[in-house]
Amino acid sequence: MTTLTFEHVSKYFDRSDGTEIRRIAAVDNVSLKVASGDVLAILGPSGCGKSTLLRLAAGIFKPDSGRVIYDDQDLQDVPLRERGVGMVFQEGALVPHWVTRRSVGFFLELRQRESEMPERLAQISRITGFGLDVLLERRPGNLSGGEQQRVSIARALSRDMRVLLFDEPFANLDAKYRTEARVELKRLLNAFPVTSIYVTHDQIEAIALSHRIAVMRDGKLEQVGTYPQLYSNPVNIFVATFIGTPIMNLFPGHVENGCWHGENFGGYPIRNDLPDGTKVTAGIRPEYIHLASDGTYGVVEQAVPYFAERHQVITVHLAGERWSFVVPLHETIEVGSTIRCALDPAGLLFFDSKTGQRIG
Ligand SMILES: Nc1ncnc2c1ncn2[C@@H]1O[C@H](COP(=O)(O)OP(=O)(O)OP(=O)(O)O)[C@@H](O)[C@H]1O
Ligand SMILES: [Mg+2]
Repeated sequence: MTTLTFEHVSKYFDRSDGTEIRRIAAVDNVSLKVASGDVLAILGPSGCGKSTLLRLAAGIFKPDSGRVIYDDQDLQDVPLRERGVGMVFQEGALVPHWVTRRSVGFFLELRQRESEMPERLAQISRITGFGLDVLLERRPGNLSGGEQQRVSIARALSRDMRVLLFDEPFANLDAKYRTEARVELKRLLNAFPVTSIYVTHDQIEAIALSHRIAVMRDGKLEQVGTYPQLYSNPVNIFVATFIGTPIMNLFPGHVENGCWHGENFGGYPIRNDLPDGTKVTAGIRPEYIHLASDGTYGVVEQAVPYFAERHQVITVHLAGERWSFVVPLHETIEVGSTIRCALDPAGLLFFDSKTGQRIG
């Protein structure tokens, strides 16, 4: 198996805004290690550099600076045929006029190892839990979106792999198939001794499939960790609000006499080395807010039911602020009604309002 390392990797593109051309860093000084056999998920908003990072990992792009390393060898020095990269693209990217048998068999065909093909197909079917037989003689145009993705995954698995890269492979599939596909892929990643990077927009998918999650913004790596680490210990407001639904509540405020004061509420102790007047934003996750008979009065603005989770997300206008939190579905909450709620100060996180960095 292969350990995949990014060492201060940057990749620039020229972008024209009509009058002048600017260089933008699509990937900006990223250092990261994916241990042999691990699955790393990459999360981040559109345009933050996820696909570019994946293409750098595959060797499709060469870094403008820094190095991508497989075990202890610079990827640029690994001959193409020894790289062993399987990649599943967002759009499937199957050759339109090739039947499945050709797409999946191409790697072995190229190496004149067609005789291994039946065994390889059987192995892929066994591991993925889907029969490829019925798809073998069909072209991509005659396959559904889900079937095309299965063929893409089978194609990625058909080579002698060291590294398996996925670029939002299920983004275009409907919710039901996504869940099935996720289970199949989990089984596959368990069965194949391979190092993997998985790009997704979907936190649930990231949690289900990966050991660790990397959050990117504007080409930079913001934080890497397990989901619980990112959730409870975000390094900044960006990660804090990107991870977790419903989103963390944020309240602007400042420091006075060792306590945090918001515009409408406050008095919570904060670390004592911050000068009075320091602008600090307090964050609190929805689970630290609850209905309380002795709590503060607020007016319900919105109540959105989530039937599968058996809860509703309610938004309350309270003392000049807007609060969102989660209430069991069986509680009757009318929009426009007055309710009382309280927060548990143990859940407060503090951020420097200027830089967004976590400070407590
Ligand atoms: N070939 C290219 N030429 C010029 N700019 C590019 C090229 N590929 C990507 N970019 C730019 O680099 C940045 C990162 O793009 P990238 O495709 O890596 O983002 P992404 O995180 O994968 O986004 P999405 O979630 O929408 O797929 C974007 O600003 C994009 O416009
Ligand atoms: Mg992308």
